[in-house]
Amino acid sequence: MNNKQNRVVLVTGGTGFIGSALVRFLIEHTQDSVINIDKLTYASSPCALASIEHSVRYQFFEGDICDQQLLKRVLEKFQPDVIMHLAAESHVDRSINGADKFIQTNIVGTFTLLEACRDYYSALQGEKRQAFRFHHVSTDEVYGDLSDKGKFTEQSSYAPSSPYSASKAAADHLVRAWYRTYGLPVVLSNCSNNYGLYQHLEKLIPLTIMNALAGKPIPIYGNGLQVRDWLYVEDHVQALYSVMSEGQLGETYNIGGNAERKNIEVVRSICNILEELAPDNPYSKMGKFSAEVGFASLIEFVTDRPGHDKRYAIDASKIEKTLGWKPQESFETGLRKTVEWYVGQFKAGQLGAD
Ligand SMILES: NC(=O)c1ccc[n+]([C@@H]2O[C@H](COP(=O)([O-])OP(=O)(O)OC[C@H]3O[C@@H](n4cnc5c(N)ncnc54)[C@H](O)[C@@H]3O)[C@@H](O)[C@H]2O)c1
Repeated sequence: MNNKQNRVVLVTGGTGFIGSALVRFLIEHTQDSVINIDKLTYASSPCALASIEHSVRYQFFEGDICDQQLLKRVLEKFQPDVIMHLAAESHVDRSINGADKFIQTNIVGTFTLLEACRDYYSALQGEKRQAFRFHHVSTDEVYGDLSDKGKFTEQSSYAPSSPYSASKAAADHLVRAWYRTYGLPVVLSNCSNNYGLYQHLEKLIPLTIMNALAGKPIPIYGNGLQVRDWLYVEDHVQALYSVMSEGQLGETYNIGGNAERKNIEVVRSICNILEELAPDNPYSKMGKFSAEVGFASLIEFVTDRPGHDKRYAIDASKIEKTLGWKPQESFETGLRKTVEWYVGQFKAGQLGAD
C-alpha cells in the first residue's frame, strides 16, 4: 500500500461514524490532504474529528451533496485526486418511518455528485486525469436477505428490503451507469455491519451498552436470531483505503469481517463484558435489573422491524486475494475495545444516562 502519495482526497460524509474514522486515518497515517463535505445531520459526530481538525492537511465544508454549486466550487478550488463518497442517510429504522431524506441524499445527492465529478473530470488532463477516481461506499444490505447457507459475493443479485437499502442500491446502479456510459473512473465497495468508537447511540451495539449502563431495557427486535457479519470500523477504513488506492476501475469489492453473530449473541457478549468492566455502576441497578442474572436481565424482546432481513454474510475473498486486505480485529477484540471506550465515555459524563 502506497501511503506517500500526497493526494487531495474529497470525502463526503466525513463527520459520520465511518467517515470520521476514515478522515482520522488519512490524516494520521498518510500524507494525503482531506477535504470533508458534510451536512452535519443528527447522525454526524464532530467530536470524532477533534484530534485532527487543526491539521493543515484538513479542511471542512458544511454543506449538502445535493448542492450542485457548492460541489462545483469545492472541486474547482481544491482539484481533488480522489472522491470518497460516504455521505448518506444510513439508519434503517428512520428510513422506514420516513424515506424522503433517504431518496434525497442517497439517490439525488449521489446523482448530483456524479454529475459534478463528471464535469470536473472532463476538464482534467494528463496524469491528474489518469489517476482520478470516484470511490462509492455502499452496504451489503443491497443484496437483501440470505437463508442459513451461502454468502454474498460481488455477483449476488440486488434485492434490497428497506427504503435505506433500496436507496443505496439505486445509488450503486447510478455509479456503475456513470462508469459504463460516461467513462467516469469509479470503484465501489459494499460492506457489512460496522461497529466501533463514535457510532451513533441508536445503533445496536452503542444502544445496548448505554442502556445497560443506564439501567434501561435493552430492546431486541423479534426473536433476536437475525445474523449480521460484523466488522470493526478501523478495519473497514483500511479496506476503503486499499480499494481507493489499488482497486480496479469499474470493479466492486465486498468487505466483511467473517464474524457472523446473531443479534442476541452480540447483546449477551456486551452484557458479559460489562459484568467485568462496570460491575458497580449505580445506574445499572435500576428498573428490572436482577443482580442474579446481571446486565442480561435488562434484555427486552420488542416487535420486529418490518421487512427485517434474517441474515447477511459477506464473502470477502476478492478483496483479500486481489488487494491483500484482511481484518486485524476479531469480533471479540474489537467488541471489547468498543465497550471499554463507551464505558469510559459514560463514566466521564460524555454520553449521558438519559
Ligand atoms: N454503518 C455501517 O454499518 C455501514 C456499513 C456499510 C456501508 N455503510 C455506508 O457507509 C457510509 C457511511 O456510513 P456511516 O455509518 O458513517 O453513516 P452515518 O449516518 O454515521 O454518517 C453519514 C454522514 O453523512 C452526512 N450527511 C448526510 N446527508 C448528507 C448530505 N445530504 N450532504 C452531506 N452530508 C450528509 C451526515 O451528516 C453524517 O455525518 C454510508 O454511505 C453507508 O451507507 C455503512
